[in-house]
Amino acid sequence: MDWETRLIHSGFDIEEHTGAVSIPIYQASTYRQTSVDEAARYEYGRSGNPTRNALEGTMAVLEGGSHGFAFSSGMAAISSALSLLKTGEHILVCRDVYGGTYRALTALFSRFGISNTFVDTTDILAIRAAIRPDTKALFLETPSNPLLRITDLRACVNLAREHGLFTIADNTFMTPYLQRPLELGVDVVVHSATKFLGGHSDVIAGVAVTANEQLAGTLRMIQTTFGAVLGPLDSWLVSRGIKTLKVRMDAQQETAGKLAEWLAANPLVKQVHYPGLAKHPGRDTHSSQSGGFGCVLSFTLADGVQARKFLKCVRIPILAVSLGGVESILTYPVTMSHASMPRECREELNVRDSLVRLSVGLEALADLKEGLDRALRESVTD
Ligand SMILES: Cc1ncc(COP(=O)(O)O)c(C=O)c1O
Repeated sequence: MDWETRLIHSGFDIEEHTGAVSIPIYQASTYRQTSVDEAARYEYGRSGNPTRNALEGTMAVLEGGSHGFAFSSGMAAISSALSLLKTGEHILVCRDVYGGTYRALTALFSRFGISNTFVDTTDILAIRAAIRPDTKALFLETPSNPLLRITDLRACVNLAREHGLFTIADNTFMTPYLQRPLELGVDVVVHSATKFLGGHSDVIAGVAVTANEQLAGTLRMIQTTFGAVLGPLDSWLVSRGIKTLKVRMDAQQETAGKLAEWLAANPLVKQVHYPGLAKHPGRDTHSSQSGGFGCVLSFTLADGVQARKFLKCVRIPILAVSLGGVESILTYPVTMSHASMPRECREELNVRDSLVRLSVGLEALADLKEGLDRALRESVTD
């Protein structure tokens, strides 16, 4: 099936009682059982819900896995995947990882004896050098957030396999429509479904997918035990969002590419980070593992003063935390997405006060240009 069709028809069956084409929202916490001895298909909402299971089935198919798990947020999905590690084990993590993942590892998992090293995963030799005898996993995000740096997934998988590590990839920016890490050998894919999968800035959700039976069994145990499951209404919202994923991403990506070129040519902008730009150092690697350049870019202005002024003036795109919605969103990483990362770490990564991230939505290109142009001009007036 082509992607348009796959997004609409994958991973769940039409509801058998009524034939409802849209999966019903099964707003039930528990289910009648006919026997105390035989396990029923559905028993209790934390361990299973038909609306949530439909989303999990869809995501398993779309990512090319066998098991999907839907969680109450992207962070719940990521924390559940990180819980595959045990006390005394060590994980390597791409150094410009999402700030919440950084906090989960440094402030939470470290308390349970799971150690971490942040490494430049665009440099395979740096990863190899950071592997320790207790290293068990490698966590990747490509393109990274917010600098859109590219990690070679195939090379990382080969290295990880050589050393017996399992790999986790955060595929939030690309979605399975543009990038399918499991097909390249990654073991677990995680998502903030709050972003492009949901697509309408109206739900907080997360997903993990794997094709590995053993990891799936442990993830199921973690999901049921920890209990951070996605509710039925929120599951339905994400499933609905997924049906239009291709048309949204195609349109948003086209506008993102044009805006990246336009910003790169603007004398008030110092540098634009977008893998689709000819000068982007990771462009070829990205093209070899993804079907498009995505809808998120970031750019640097002269300094933090100009960036703050620009964000104060701008009306469209709106200033907000998050990305991946139909509305274009500007984010200030140092006080928003990466606030939980210490300043020294941010500076080392080049996530500076002058950096602004833009998630491109479905508005008309001309309106976005006009809004950005006006705010850029105001940002340099006294
Ligand atoms: C790349 C990435 N991963 C994970 C998350 C966390 O997702 P959530 O906010 O749904 O918990 C985010 C949120 O911004 C993100 O951008």
